[in-house]
Amino acid sequence: MSDYVLAIDQGTTSSRAIVFDRSGRVVSVGQQEHEQFMPQPGWVEHDAMQIWQHVQEVIGTALGRADLTGHDIAAVGITNQRETAVVWDRRTGLPVHRAIVWQDTRTQDIVDRLAADGGTDRFAPITGLPLASYFSASKIAWILEHVPGARERAEAGELLFGTTDSWVLWNLTGGPEGGVHVTDVTNASRTLLMDLRTLAWREDLLEAFGIPAAMMPEIRSSSEVYGVAETSSLLRGTPIAGILGDQQSATFGQAAFSAGESKNTYGTGCFLIFQTGEEIVHSANGLITTVAFQLGDGPAHYALEGSIAVTGSLIQWLRDQLGLIRSAPEVEQLARTVPDSGGVYFVPAFSGLFAPYWRPDARGAIVGLTRYSNRGHIARAALEAVAFQTRDVLDAVNADAGVPLTELRVDGGMVANEALMQFQADLLGVPVVRPEVTETTALGAAYAAGLAVGFWSGLDELRGKWREDRRWEPALDPAERERRVRAWRKAVTKSMDWVD
Ligand code: G3P
Repeated sequence: MSDYVLAIDQGTTSSRAIVFDRSGRVVSVGQQEHEQFMPQPGWVEHDAMQIWQHVQEVIGTALGRADLTGHDIAAVGITNQRETAVVWDRRTGLPVHRAIVWQDTRTQDIVDRLAADGGTDRFAPITGLPLASYFSASKIAWILEHVPGARERAEAGELLFGTTDSWVLWNLTGGPEGGVHVTDVTNASRTLLMDLRTLAWREDLLEAFGIPAAMMPEIRSSSEVYGVAETSSLLRGTPIAGILGDQQSATFGQAAFSAGESKNTYGTGCFLIFQTGEEIVHSANGLITTVAFQLGDGPAHYALEGSIAVTGSLIQWLRDQLGLIRSAPEVEQLARTVPDSGGVYFVPAFSGLFAPYWRPDARGAIVGLTRYSNRGHIARAALEAVAFQTRDVLDAVNADAGVPLTELRVDGGMVANEALMQFQADLLGVPVVRPEVTETTALGAAYAAGLAVGFWSGLDELRGKWREDRRWEPALDPAERERRVRAWRKAVTKSMDWVD
């Protein structure tokens, strides 16, 4: 009898494997960070082979720490950083280029070229997305344009494309010896190539980006058996039965299954997802439309999403690029050395600005500096930027939904930061609520996999597992709150139209 489900979370900074028990609690974790390559301003790359190596290692660590074998695992779920594009040779299994990461902005000229004919929203009615370098399509196009011989090989059916869910699944199910080349609807909805209604690749969009259909994975639901593990000696024969892009996965792990339910995840970036049920809603306020999940042959569920590119990665930047702190948690201590940001505002537009602004030309800006400003103020302004950006997105959600959200469910690494969560509640003017299990990203994929093999009975059972851990009530005077939001928005305007 298998009493556990294993989730692989292939994220932007690390790969993790987490074992969950039937109650949805974490039993053990394996984790490894991978290298971030930034060869030029705006470029961010990953080594897909290193990622695959790490995935195998963390599976071993997670199973080993709990003293389990593959026989104890009923199913495996995969969740992943979305949009990041891997192109590899189907015979050798070797990538033809480093993976181009979602934060990478090198493809802006490809995007501009396409936007010149019909504007940045020309594909939005079909895909739910604006034309932006964030999504996979222009990244695939860049690889085909820049790697010698890649286009011919792709046209001959020799190359495969996948987001990292597909890359991990293909390798886990056999690699060059019969690996399954599949992605799920949530990941496919982030490529700019899928029709939200039919859940199929669009030939005209593939053509617009010059991408041969032969390299695209098959689109399947988020919860079904795609294949069994072949290459991992530990998991051999175990079904892989769930795939969800990480933000949709966190929403699923938060048991936010129904229209009107939402969550905000504080990771490398911040992603607020608002479920709209079976209805496709197009935003009038800078949000994108995405697939939330599809279980087997059931209907697809959709969501509005506010994507913020830089939040947790800003703290990493303070650590790695500025040397202001030695470890990420230290930022809270440093921020506490000052009572407020001293009038300093930090707009971390490192990949331009995503939702709700969608301004690729924006660049990072620190404004309001005086001789009085010190390290504490910078640290505090960086943390506050996370909360201000979430407020911008929440305003857009409220405007689109027509009814304001009454509380915000949160998860992700940064929700351990008490000062940030209090400031977030203060800025939103609604309570911020953290669940007991904050590993919701991995939990969602585990849920999807467990549902497919009958390990859990259905959404009602999963809903019953959600438990509140902590709640932060807003405490800031509303007039002061709005004054600060106005100042933040002024700072945002300073980050735009930057040309050096
Ligand atoms: O869209 C990008 C997102 O999926 C990345 O998530 O948690 O790896 O920052 P994360």
